[in-house]
Order: sequence, then C-alpha cells, then structure tokens
Amino acid sequence: MEVKDRKIEHINIVKKGGVEYEETSGWFEYVYLIHQALPEIDLQDVDTSVNFLGFKLKAPLIIDSMTGGSEETKEINKNLAALAHELGIGMGVGSQRAAIEDPSLADTYSVVRETAPDIFVIGNIGAAQLITYDIDKIKSAIDMIKANALAIHLNPLQEAIQPEGEPKFKGVLQKLAEVSKLINVPIIVKEVGSGISKEVAIKLKLAGVSAINVAGAGGTSWAKIEGVRAKKAKKMENYSLAEIFGEWGIPTAASIIEVRSVTDLPLIASGGIKNGLELAKAITLGADIGAMAGTVLKELLKNGYEKAKEMLSNTVNEYRLALFLTGSKNTSELKKKRKILLGPLAEWARQVGYI
Ligand SMILES: Cc1cc2nc3c(=O)[nH]c(=O)nc-3n(C[C@H](O)[C@H](O)[C@H](O)COP(=O)(O)O)c2cc1C
Repeated sequence: MEVKDRKIEHINIVKKGGVEYEETSGWFEYVYLIHQALPEIDLQDVDTSVNFLGFKLKAPLIIDSMTGGSEETKEINKNLAALAHELGIGMGVGSQRAAIEDPSLADTYSVVRETAPDIFVIGNIGAAQLITYDIDKIKSAIDMIKANALAIHLNPLQEAIQPEGEPKFKGVLQKLAEVSKLINVPIIVKEVGSGISKEVAIKLKLAGVSAINVAGAGGTSWAKIEGVRAKKAKKMENYSLAEIFGEWGIPTAASIIEVRSVTDLPLIASGGIKNGLELAKAITLGADIGAMAGTVLKELLKNGYEKAKEMLSNTVNEYRLALFLTGSKNTSELKKKRKILLGPLAEWARQVGYI
C-alpha cells in the first residue's frame, strides 16, 4: 500500500472512532489548579497570547501534526490552516514523506502556507525516514511549506504494529544531532501518543534539538489504529500485539513531569487534551503550549468547519477562564501558580523527583 493511501486509511479509522485510549486518560484529573476567589484582575484583561519559538500565538495552542499527501487530505489541511489562521494559533502538517518521495504531492502540504501565509507552521518527518534521508531531502520538507519549525516524530510502537511498518530506530539520535546543526529552523522532536520519558528528553537535549512535544497517552492510540489495519490485512500477529499494547504509554501529564524534571527546553503537551482547562493544567505542570490532533480532526470531519472553529474557540475561552480563576493575568503568571497533584500522578511525580 502506498504511503498516501495509508494516510487516508488512518483518517477514516480515526473518524470512525474506537481508537482512543480508554482505560488511560491523560491524567489531568489528578491535577488541581487552586481556585482564587480574589483574582484581582478583570476577566476581559486576561491575556491568552504567548510567544513560542519566537512566534506570537493568540493562545498557547497548536493543531498537531496530522495529514497531507492526497487530494482528500489536501482539503483537510486547507481547513485546518484556515482554522489556525482564524484562531491565531499554529499548526503542524502530517508526515511529508509522501511528497518528499513524490514531489507532485507537494501541494497537499503547501496548501497550508497558501491558505494561511502568516501562521506558525511545523513541517514533519518520521525518525524512520530521518535516518535514510540526506540533508537536502530534509530541507525540502521545510521549503515545501516555508516551515517555521520541523517536527521529527518518534513512533516505535506504531512502526512495530503497522503491517508494513519499519521499526528501525538504530542511529536516530546520532542523525538528529547532525541534522540539528545543519538546518536553520528549530527542530521539535515529538512522539505520536506514547509520551516522552526523562531518559529520552536528556538525550534529545544533548543532541541539540530545540523543543519537545510529549504527545503522551490519553488521546489517539496508534497501536489501536494500526491494530484495525492489521486485522483487515489479516496480519494476526500484529493484531494481537495491538490488543496488548493498545493502552501502552506514559500518560500526558506524567510525561510533562518526566521531561520537565530534566530539561528546560520549550515544551508542547499533546495527547488527549480535550479542553482549555486541561490545557491550563498541562501548562502548570511545565508545558509552554498544548496541541490537539484527533479531537479537532473528528470535529471537522463529522460536524464541519464551523463546529471545529467553535470547539477551538471554546478551548481558548476555557483557558482564559482558568487563568482568571487562578488569578493569572497571563500564561507566565499561570506557570508560577500552586497546584496540587493527586493519586497516581503524585506518586509518579515523587518517584521522578519532580516533587
Ligand atoms: C489522523 C492522525 C494522523 C497523524 N499523523 C501524524 C503524523 O503524520 N506525524 C506526526 O508526528 N504525528 C501524527 N499524528 C499524531 C498527532 O500529532 C498527536 O501527536 C497525537 O495524535 C496525540 O494527540 P491527540 O491525542 O490530541 O490526538 C497523527 C494523529 C492523527 C489523529
């Protein structure tokens, strides 16, 4: 199966549903922000805007890397770019492998730049491709969409379960270190839903990457998505792995704690963030901004552009209210606010040495 067809299958499986973490949430229910009955600010004066990697965003939010590579996904990218533009937030495109290997597909990604010339856009390639591509190919991904940053995704679980996967990760770190020196936009290393540990965060920092996106467990489960595909392809060995590893990964809140306990790198939190209150919790734990993928895509595909816009705009309003109720004028103030960690997250934080 061609890469572009696989991407369409992924979208259709996510749209149908049932491929999210069920038993594992992002663990934001274990974070309590402290209500301040005397905020000493007016709600209308709360400022949700932030600077991230030198870019101003109207809210600390991006639409996470998802798609491109075919006519159907071109339309999706166009809509996501229009949403990001209207909201004043950023977005990532999905893996650009399809267009790097077949340049006639480049417009399915560059549509993002045409639709939204001024937004913060993140390019995307996979670790499995990173090792095989020369620097010109990597730079072509950036040029294709005039990217402001390049995300490299680490997806060992997905590659292991995907029927045509390439679970080959030997040499990725070395290549990351080389590429970090050769390209002139920030490199963001991200997972795709299983989270980043503190050990990986230390290695990434030493390799010279600019930022990390934890993409933890709690939202989209790639083991489940590839499990659906494996079953259809009658690859029963892969399917049975998906059954066991469908809930595998570091819950997003715990992953933020892991990474923040060892680095001060700019940090994106994604993986099951459902609303602006969870976004605020992610930020009090140590993230700089949050990102949403599956939730935005499902809303767009099932209920249309206006509903997706409403959902994102509600998220920003919820974030604004969380700032107000914690007595924070802006995101920098929120980061300094006291929070209470409960249950398993508190235990995790203790074992990591975060508290
Ligand atoms: C349909 C779909 C396609 C995705 N494709 C990519 C991709 O090409 N590259 C990537 O880095 N992450 C990809 N992701 C992962 C997301 O960027 C994100 O890290 C992950 O889904 C966790 O966020 P969520 O729980 O809000 O969906 C994809 C996610 C979805 C739902």
